[in-house]
Amino acid sequence: MNIVIVYSSRFGNGKKCVDTVDEQLRIKGHEVKIINAQKADPSQLPPADIYIFSGATEAFNIAVGIRRYLKKLPQMDGKKYALICTHAMNRAIALNKMEKLLSKKKKMVKVAAIDFKVNNKAQQGNGLPEGYEDSLREWVEGIV
Ligand SMILES: Cc1cc2nc3c(=O)[nH]c(=O)nc-3n(C[C@H](O)[C@H](O)[C@H](O)COP(=O)(O)O)c2cc1C
Repeated sequence: MNIVIVYSSRFGNGKKCVDTVDEQLRIKGHEVKIINAQKADPSQLPPADIYIFSGATEAFNIAVGIRRYLKKLPQMDGKKYALICTHAMNRAIALNKMEKLLSKKKKMVKVAAIDFKVNNKAQQGNGLPEGYEDSLREWVEGIV
């Protein structure tokens, strides 16, 4: 399958998740393209069998880097997507907001979502909980 991953990551927590997912998808023989949302044009999103969008919660919203990108996406009727979110508070607010935007406004179809609550090392990019890589590898198995 062709998988496109679009992410933004301020400290690298979300990027670590993306890298783990990328590695696992490649091990399984899939083609993966990774796009940094802050350096890309949403109108040029390449075709894919599944899109994975990854972004943190910031200020009770979707982190601005990926939010701007998602808002500018064209209509994506019926295209499948999965979500990754990291957040410091108990609720993964950005996850619900990304889903609302992509399913309701862009008409995409959600196939999976995963989120991690980060700890106080998040600002050093080391906030992910123990075992996050195994959780992500298992998550990938459920998608492809
Ligand atoms: C400016 C800013 C605002 C944030 N606001 C929230 C928030 O409202 N809720 C929350 O759960 N986490 C919040 N966080 C924590 C981030 O979601 C968390 O550190 C995340 O893992 C960052 O991911 P990244 O390293 O991929 O950017 C905030 C972080 C920053 C820097």
